[in-house]
Amino acid sequence: MTNKTVLVTGGAGYIGSHACVELLESGFNVVVVDNLCNSKIESLSRVQQITGKPLTFYQVDISDKAALTEIFAKESICAVMHFAGLKAVGESCEKPALYYHNNVCGTLILAEVMAAANVKQLVFSSSATVYGQSGSPQYSENFPLGAINPYGRSKVMIEDILRDLSTADSINRTKSPWKIALLRYFNPIGAHQSGLIGEDPNGIPNNLMPYVSQVAIGKLVQLSVFGDDYPTPDGTGVRDYIHVVDLVKGHIKAIAALEKPTFAQGGCKAYNLGTGQGYSVLEIIHTFEKITGHRINYKIAPRRTGDLAECFANPELALQELGWKAEKNLDDMVSDTWNWQTKNPQGYL
Ligand code: NAD
Ligand code: WQD
Repeated sequence: MTNKTVLVTGGAGYIGSHACVELLESGFNVVVVDNLCNSKIESLSRVQQITGKPLTFYQVDISDKAALTEIFAKESICAVMHFAGLKAVGESCEKPALYYHNNVCGTLILAEVMAAANVKQLVFSSSATVYGQSGSPQYSENFPLGAINPYGRSKVMIEDILRDLSTADSINRTKSPWKIALLRYFNPIGAHQSGLIGEDPNGIPNNLMPYVSQVAIGKLVQLSVFGDDYPTPDGTGVRDYIHVVDLVKGHIKAIAALEKPTFAQGGCKAYNLGTGQGYSVLEIIHTFEKITGHRINYKIAPRRTGDLAECFANPELALQELGWKAEKNLDDMVSDTWNWQTKNPQGYL
């Protein structure tokens, strides 16, 4: 157990709220900074309900340098988990400046404030979307980067900035160098097993899992399966779905690793967080039908622009260096999603 304080940016959001639970349950104090642009404060009440522990919340934008500086002066922060960011691929194509400003400039300001406060341990929410086309559907951390939309490029830019900050420390032989873990998530789904926190998308979901879940509960009429002519076993797209609780456990391991020999000299390292196992859209639908007993009404639709046939992680590096491995299976992911959906049919009210 520890009494260290971790600042969680974006802590009211889907993944951030699960991270707060895991941090509190691991003995950390938690300070959340979130501007609530894509979340509700109710998620943080639920975090406190689950854990029986308090946390500190600031409704602040990460681009607000003065407010962030004050928070670092007031709280004894030792590390930051940085989830705050906009994440909708389609919206990023319509509003690229918003995405670059919010995600890239916001992270730069956060990093400046951290350095000024001499808090240089950072775990960053990156994405498998940073990988370029590689010829192999299984992605390793050393594969070339090459995102294909502004959202993905904002993640590549942030990774580049953070690597440069770390490299500069080694050139300048800084006494307390940056220690940064870039965590590249594959497809996070599921919810906390209590059903008190989960994914609460605004409007019609873009992602498969919340869409299927809303069809199952009758909020949406029909799922469009984007393409059944991919070179995959059943023709539909294959992805590496990972339970959000496994994902945030990876963050706890990463925070611990920043204190260990791998990061003794500082550094900025990327880790895939995935299961290493791919499932097709039809497999997701059939698992959902099996777990819920509801038929999923779907039709085959044209491929969605920008989609890959198949994408899954090589998760070996996270196992070797962080000692982390996903433990939950697809049935767990679907039943926890359904538990959250049925207990909160309208999301957070
Ligand atoms: P989310 O939208 O639920 O959470 C993001 C949180 O950040 C929200 O609470 C939002 O209000 C807050 N936020 C956004 N901009 C902010 C700003 N400028 N200042 C303060 N708060 C701000 O999203 P999520 O699914 O929990 O994703 C968390 C992180 O993980 C994001 O950085 C996202 O890009 C990354 N990621 C998500 C996925 C996924 O499929 N969910 C996959 C890979 C990476
Ligand atoms: C999964 C599969 C679709 C919706 C996205 C972002 C990525 C990352 C995670 C943040 C694909 C199919 C989907 C639907 C469908 N986010 N599908 N009908 O595209 O792998 O990744 O979220 O970093 O950046 O691009 O996830 O859930 O949208 O799609 O058939 O209505 O489901 O074609 O094969 P994706 P997804």
